[in-house]
Amino acid sequence: MLATWMPHIGASRRAGDGGLFDRRRIITLGHVTSRAATRPAVVILAAGEGTRMRSSTPKVLHAIAGRSMLGHVIEAASGLEPEHVIVVVGHGREQVIEHLAEIAPWAIPVVQQEQRGTGHALRVALEAMSERNLVTSEILVLSGDTPLLTENTLLGLMADAADAGRGSAAATVLTVRLNDPSGYGRVMRAADGTVARIVEDRDASADEAAVDEINTGMYVFQTEPLRTMLGRIGTNNAQGEEYLTEVVALMCQDGLVVRASQAGNADEVMGVNDRAQLAQAAAALRDRINGDWLRAGVWILDPTSTWIDVDVDLAPDVTLLPGTCLRGPTSIATGARVGPGTTLISCEVGERSELIHTWAELAVIGSDCSVGPFTYLRPGTQLGDGAKAGAYVEIKNSTIGPDAKVPHLSYVGDAEVGEGTNIGAATVFVNYDGVAKHRTVIGRQVRIGSDTMLVAPVTVGDGAYTAAGSVITEDVPPGAMAVARGKQRNVPGWVARRRAGTASAEAAEQATTEPTGRDA
Ligand code: UD1
Ligand code: CA
Repeated sequence: MLATWMPHIGASRRAGDGGLFDRRRIITLGHVTSRAATRPAVVILAAGEGTRMRSSTPKVLHAIAGRSMLGHVIEAASGLEPEHVIVVVGHGREQVIEHLAEIAPWAIPVVQQEQRGTGHALRVALEAMSERNLVTSEILVLSGDTPLLTENTLLGLMADAADAGRGSAAATVLTVRLNDPSGYGRVMRAADGTVARIVEDRDASADEAAVDEINTGMYVFQTEPLRTMLGRIGTNNAQGEEYLTEVVALMCQDGLVVRASQAGNADEVMGVNDRAQLAQAAAALRDRINGDWLRAGVWILDPTSTWIDVDVDLAPDVTLLPGTCLRGPTSIATGARVGPGTTLISCEVGERSELIHTWAELAVIGSDCSVGPFTYLRPGTQLGDGAKAGAYVEIKNSTIGPDAKVPHLSYVGDAEVGEGTNIGAATVFVNYDGVAKHRTVIGRQVRIGSDTMLVAPVTVGDGAYTAAGSVITEDVPPGAMAVARGKQRNVPGWVARRRAGTASAEAAEQATTEPTGRDA
């Protein structure tokens, strides 16, 4: 499978063909100029099962805003221009490794066979790094379950670690104060303000649990003391696991210094362990994304009901109405109005186009188009400038020319419709013969009568007409009128004879015997 940000929504179906509908996105490693003082190796712990998610999908692959939790962490880390990014995988490793290959092929997966705790995970990573000569003097440790993390917070941690490093700190822990610290490891400070140890929630006494400064699970370590201490940690705790947090106490016992770097934004370092927290993170990210677009000149009437993926691109003066979801790498040009109730997946929308109550995927919509309400545009749909796809219209794998219209109740599949052509109400492009799909080609300025069946493969020439209710099975030359239906026959007096005594018979009787004003 080719790279895409949307493993769960199938938008990659046409990705990678390099054409109009190619919508792939890969995270790039680092920026041209990095603001980070040093280039660390980054180790992301992502091997845990995530039992509390109660899901068959590995925890770090759950997505918000169109990107997996792991993807969000990698994106934040990639801004530091790290020397290497190592991802510790274990539970559901095949899926996680495949996902990594799609979103960040430059990241290096390391397998932790058994999930024996965060300390064990980092030990496995260090061993693999030594084997492959990837060891740097400093290591930034992150978790795969903190999707709100930003590059800025990591730059702050790196800067504090660089300062602390001059004062020879062996580790710098990113911490934050929370109103409700429950669930997190608590940071115990020594009298001089350095970090003495970290106590896990489950192992905390009442006094320790009352401490509101928590461990975010992000650290900068000097590699050599880290390696030594990881060899010494035990499993004497509530979960019987090798806790990475124990390294802190061991370092202090050895006279090494551990410092804290406090994060400014508590939201950003939130860890997601269950679906309630995932929903909380999704809402926080939605607010962040919508706030950014509002400040960039996009009008979002109801930011709480508008969901925009991270890879979406919007121009100023785009209007988004309530209940709109923009997924994948969708882009919308200035002046376009989208919604209410519209979902666009990997679509392109041109200037001033309007889409109401529409579901569209991998569709390219030109400028000044009108779509909806209740319109379904499937992959491969392309609307030329000024085109219309109206109410209860479904289109797939078809090109609708500039100013062409499909205004009502129609299905258009595997077709080409020329400029200025009008497709009458309830027309069906009969593209499937029960075995194979066939194409229909309709020329410029054609008028397809209402309720026409266009049985593919078939061609209708420029400027031709079809009569309403026709079943078109043969090509129509330019300028011709195609009539393909039974000739009408009226049977006079049929109702009086065959439906005597009904309301219809009575109405017919009145119409034929009583003079009306109209006859006068
Ligand atoms: C961890 C910290 C806790 C901190 C919290 C922040 C420990 C012991 N505790 O707790 O102090 O407040 O993060 O969110 O470190 N993982 C592995 N292999 C394993 C176990 C875990 O790779 O064997 C990975 C998980 O996939 C996850 C990360 O490590 O991405 C953290 O593990 P998790 O079980 O979520 O730890 P917490 O209980 O949240
Ligand atoms: Ca966690």
